[in-house]
Amino acid sequence: MEIVASAPAKVILFGEHFVVYGKPAIVMAINKRAYVKAKKRDDKKIYVNSLNLKASGFFENEKFTPKTGGLEARKKLEPVKAVIERVFQLHERKCGLEVEIDSKIPVAAGLGSSAAVAAATAMAVSTLFDIKIEKNEIFNIAYEAERLAHGTPSGIDPAIVTYGGTMIFQNMNMQSLTVSCEILLVIGNTGLKRSTGELVAKVRINKKKYPSIVNPIIEAGGEIAERARRALENGEIEVLGELMNINHSLLSAVGVSHKLLDRLVAAAREAGALGAKLTGAGGGGCMIALAHRETLGRVASAIKEAGGTAFIAEKSDEGVRIEAER
Ligand code: MEV
Repeated sequence: MEIVASAPAKVILFGEHFVVYGKPAIVMAINKRAYVKAKKRDDKKIYVNSLNLKASGFFENEKFTPKTGGLEARKKLEPVKAVIERVFQLHERKCGLEVEIDSKIPVAAGLGSSAAVAAATAMAVSTLFDIKIEKNEIFNIAYEAERLAHGTPSGIDPAIVTYGGTMIFQNMNMQSLTVSCEILLVIGNTGLKRSTGELVAKVRINKKKYPSIVNPIIEAGGEIAERARRALENGEIEVLGELMNINHSLLSAVGVSHKLLDRLVAAAREAGALGAKLTGAGGGGCMIALAHRETLGRVASAIKEAGGTAFIAEKSDEGVRIEAER
């Protein structure tokens, strides 16, 4: 028996980083997914194979034996193994297992790939063992995996990859949003990988060093998300674009933009985007541009000419799900 589960990528439309300090943020699941296949083994080993990270190996008790990717592979695969063990622990099961990860989500780019892989792994492994797992349990497991990966996550990534759609997230509370206009985005990738943990730490340091300056920026970030929520509900697309532009400047002010991100954002705006900003942790990774349907192609070309790669994304209503049981 083999189970395949998947979970979507996400883009933060408004409020990344400020959400770590209890401000609201708005996030949307998009139509790119991470796929995880699980099947049982006859021995006690856990074999994890990540096709996109080009890393694979066997975990047996505390021992790791790499198959591809050398000893480096352990660090890359450890979060997946932690998710598997958590499912085993919660449901008092244990068994040899083979897990294959095939993610269509760019890695370390701000699109939630690690959370999506964690959520899809939790669902695939529990289904393999006939365990009825609730979405809130998957969310908790993926959240724990995020904590292992980067210290003080807000929980926004595991929430959106689990539940899908568009939501406003604040202090571990999430509420699904009604969106009254078509949100079409071009996602521009700088191709620069970066660590979310380091960027979250950078904002923390700036906040500590200049509290009277950085705290009001964080407040303003929260106000942007609140205004954006109304704009989404009322279908005020132009307002959304303008708020994205302001949001990008605030993120830049707290130190998480990058010159290539700024270049892609400027190129998108010049090509007619309604607004553009970095998305996720920043420091490299991806930016998003909001555009009318007829302008999408032009914006994507401008992003490519400015040195990035680009694709067009749409909302995905479905969070983590089973793709196949065979
Ligand atoms: C990462 O996608 C979003 C951050 O706000 C970190 C977090 O909320 O955990 C940068």
